[in-house]
Amino acid sequence: MAHSAVLAFDLYGTLLSTESISKRLSEIIGSQEEGTQIAASWRKYQLEYSWRLTCMGHYDNFFNITRNALRHALSEAGVQLDEEQVKQLMDEYDRLSTFPDVIAALQNLHSRPDIKSVIFSNGTEEMVSNSVLRSKSLSPHAELFADLVTVDAVQKFKPAPEVYEHLAASTKTKMENIWLITANPFDVVGATKCGIKAAWLDRNGRGWEDAAAPALRPRVIGKSLDEVIKTILSDLGK
Ligand SMILES: *[C@@H]1O[C@H](CO)[C@@H](O)[C@H](O)[C@H]1NC(C)=O
Ligand SMILES: *[C@@H]1O[C@H](CO)[C@@H](O)[C@H](O)[C@H]1NC(C)=O
Repeated sequence: MAHSAVLAFDLYGTLLSTESISKRLSEIIGSQEEGTQIAASWRKYQLEYSWRLTCMGHYDNFFNITRNALRHALSEAGVQLDEEQVKQLMDEYDRLSTFPDVIAALQNLHSRPDIKSVIFSNGTEEMVSNSVLRSKSLSPHAELFADLVTVDAVQKFKPAPEVYEHLAASTKTKMENIWLITANPFDVVGATKCGIKAAWLDRNGRGWEDAAAPALRPRVIGKSLDEVIKTILSDLGK
């Protein structure tokens, strides 16, 4: 059956919550406050490293970037963890939970064979497939996703245009027939620039503020995945 549209779901921070990783970090270092601070700085370096490497035309995979960013955040905070503890934190990526709004929203798609759903992530194939297949809450829905499209093949990170071109090529779908669903504003902006329709998941209800390219805004904004998917489905029906 020909698909009328492709829905490409971002994974970390969109379907899967990484909050359990911050909690585990707080447990390991024995301070909630410091754990939260280090987790925030870890996330900042993770993004910064991926963008810097892409700018430089240099590639390292997302797993390595994530681990190296953790080391940077720890050393800046003057906290020492041994290799086993670092490994324990990285292993948490294999048992992430979905956000509470995810499962009910995905149910709506099981009855829509005209729509092809894929995961679209900057993780490595191994990291992404482990995250999907080992997550207790997401794994029962794994068959909904026809493909796992990762940037590992392109060796650049979101929001580089090549990454979105790779999504269109992998799904054999024109940019304008793809919807990206993501909680990350930089992903919205990068996809919109390439002609992909982007839906931004604003779970905190803070409103759109990103002004990297003020003209590039999400086509749909919703506070839950359910709201976002319903709006996209009704747009497709028009
Ligand atoms: C990579 O994508 C994940 C979602 O799959 C997102 O949470 C994260 O912010 C992105 N990271 C980088 C380094 O671009
Ligand atoms: C990831 O890091 C390991 C060392 O821990 C290294 O051997 C490997 O080449 C790195 N991967 C990439 C793609 O750079």
